[in-house]
Amino acid sequence: MSSGGQMGRSSVAALVVASVLGSVICFHVTASPEGVGEHHDRYNFRFVRHARDAPPVSYYNYIIVGGGTAGCPLAATLSEHSRVLLLERGGLPYGNRNVSSSYHFADALADTSPSSPAQRFVSEDGVVNARARVLGGGSCLNAGFYTRASTGYVRAAGWDARLVNASYRWVEREVVFRPGVPRWQCALREGLLEAGVTPDNGFTLDHLPGTKIGGTIFDRRGSRHTAADLLRKAHPRRLTVFLHATVSRVLFRRSRTSGAPVVAYGVVFTDPLGAQHRVYVRRNRGGGGGGEVILAAGTLGSPQLLMLSGVGPRAHLERHGIRDVVHDNPLVGQGVADNPMNSVFVPSPVPVSLSLVQVVGVTRFGSFIEGVSGSQFGIIPMIHGHRRHSFGMFSPMTGQLGTLPPKQRTPEAMRRAAEVMRRLDRRAFRGGFILEKTLGPMSTGHVELRSTDPAANPAVTFNYFRDPRDVERCARGIQAIERVVASRAFARFTYNNRTTTAATIFRRAAGTPFFPVNLMPRHPGDTRTLQQYCRETVMTIWHYHGGCHVGGVVDKDYRVMGVRGLRVIDSSTFKYSPGTNPQATVMMLGRYMGLRILKERWVSKGKDVKH
Ligand SMILES: Cc1cc2nc3c(=O)[nH]c(=O)nc-3n(C[C@H](O)[C@H](O)[C@H](O)COP(=O)(O)OP(=O)(O)OC[C@H]3O[C@@H](n4cnc5c(N)ncnc54)[C@H](O)[C@@H]3O)c2cc1C
Ligand SMILES: *[C@@H]1O[C@H](CO)[C@@H](O)[C@H](O)[C@H]1NC(C)=O
Ligand SMILES: *[C@@H]1O[C@H](CO)[C@@H](O)[C@H](O)[C@H]1NC(C)=O
Ligand SMILES: *[C@@H]1O[C@H](CO)[C@@H](O)[C@H](O)[C@H]1NC(C)=O
Repeated sequence: MSSGGQMGRSSVAALVVASVLGSVICFHVTASPEGVGEHHDRYNFRFVRHARDAPPVSYYNYIIVGGGTAGCPLAATLSEHSRVLLLERGGLPYGNRNVSSSYHFADALADTSPSSPAQRFVSEDGVVNARARVLGGGSCLNAGFYTRASTGYVRAAGWDARLVNASYRWVEREVVFRPGVPRWQCALREGLLEAGVTPDNGFTLDHLPGTKIGGTIFDRRGSRHTAADLLRKAHPRRLTVFLHATVSRVLFRRSRTSGAPVVAYGVVFTDPLGAQHRVYVRRNRGGGGGGEVILAAGTLGSPQLLMLSGVGPRAHLERHGIRDVVHDNPLVGQGVADNPMNSVFVPSPVPVSLSLVQVVGVTRFGSFIEGVSGSQFGIIPMIHGHRRHSFGMFSPMTGQLGTLPPKQRTPEAMRRAAEVMRRLDRRAFRGGFILEKTLGPMSTGHVELRSTDPAANPAVTFNYFRDPRDVERCARGIQAIERVVASRAFARFTYNNRTTTAATIFRRAAGTPFFPVNLMPRHPGDTRTLQQYCRETVMTIWHYHGGCHVGGVVDKDYRVMGVRGLRVIDSSTFKYSPGTNPQATVMMLGRYMGLRILKERWVSKGKDVKH
């Protein structure tokens, strides 16, 4: 694999060599803040149009709702043989540096305007969170880390392992890179090994216990590649994409044949001018039938749309005036979960370059340890002509404020934390965050309608740490982080006795409740205190999933149970978060299910489907 090269066919040999020669694993990279992400991979997709130009009525074989991480690969794949419409409520990811540049990662999350690619939501737990609103979905906002699900996860899901691997490879050839690993990430990697998170798995996309470097959707220039780029693989005349198209419901009619009594036959969407458009499923006669509506609107969007369309808990739907209950299923919206994330800021005596997630420690006790380093410009406006620093991903402007218990993270608290941050010496921003994600998780909650407005966020409850196994895993993860910070490998990036200026600034500031970052738990070693630390400092790593579980809402073919002609294919179908980070498996699932649907439909007609 060449430097900055994509994961092509020749990559396997290079990968083996790299794992053998340890020194090849880590090499210093210097990312310059300016110019990063300004290159021009803007695809001029002729099939992408604005919803206001959509006809009032149209017909397609497949109507996919949500042009996100799963929806894009699914649409590209289905368009190989059918006429496909992809409806996305957001706009294009191209030409927006808040999306394309790793340097501006935090800006998209901090942008709370209606045109932002990120829509903020606050769960009932009080943790500030974000969901995508852009073509490419969460892959346009995320930290880029790319890593597959374990073989055990694939087996438990009942997927065909060969087709899964082929689907991962299809994604990887287009949008996955091997990262250049800066020194701070190398120290994290070596610190994890010293802390006992072994073996050393070098660079790999596989999910294995131990420490590894994973893939990334950022190329060596720091420029993001997203699920939207997978539309390059689409058949340009069989796919139509409408942007700024907000779907308000799925249309059902009584079926004349046996089986489920109702069948999905189209959707209604609204353009930004308020005009309604209808799209109907065109079912080709003969051979396999075909023609479906497929929801890929994400963990919040898919259960919300099912409920708005009359599929869900009857009493709840009726409370919101949805009288036409198509299928009473109390499990719609249930089993939603968000993996708790807890972090520690490690101030550094030396400058640290910017990095998002590149290394992960997969412990044997159900905690995944990752890190991000460097401070960023950007999200604090220029003051007196000077650029200001911020803690990037962990800045209060992004909604991440782990120093106050969730319910106390009010907009006022966020504002005061941002103010404290503005007064800090720039040296205080040197360093990085070591974070910990809890496996699973075991604690689950639910998504409920707040209103019948499809553009409004539904109410989400995650019940972080309700299950004691999650608290236990978190506490052990924090202990492992403490070992990493104390490791020899990490010494270069820690203050020994906190006597230097920046450390003094920190000590003083850390005494105030609005100091925006956590240093370390105050009483390390005491498990009860650590558990308290976990509960009070919980944030999100944005890996929420569930709400349309396989076996509860959809069957093993991802068809919505109780109706016909409707599937859900996205992160809402997951019971647990796959791998250490989910995006690889979300994109894979879009490709995988696309291939399976094509097969169902075409193999019976004697046509060959390649993959
Ligand atoms: C800040 C952040 C950092 C992350 N970091 C990582 C990481 O480093 N590595 C990793 O693997 N994962 C990461 N993730 C998680 C990963 O990106 C998500 O799990 C994944 O993107 C979810 O994909 P999805 O297809 O289920 O939903 P999405 O990608 O959110 O797609 C849903 C799409 O549906 C659209 N939609 C919703 N409702 C409607 C409607 N009514 N009408 C029309 N369109 C609609 C939305 O606009 C959206 O584009 C991160 C996520 C975030 C937000
Ligand atoms: C990027 O984000 C910043 C800060 O959130 C915001 O002010 C700016 O308008 C955004 N830029 C674009 C191009 O959306
Ligand atoms: C799929 O790939 C994984 C490695 O990523 C490998 O362990 C597994 O054996 C492969 N499965 C099949 C059926 O090829
Ligand atoms: C830090 O301080 C303690 C006690 O004050 C001392 O024992 C220790 O040697 C110091 N460590 C370093 C690395 O200076």
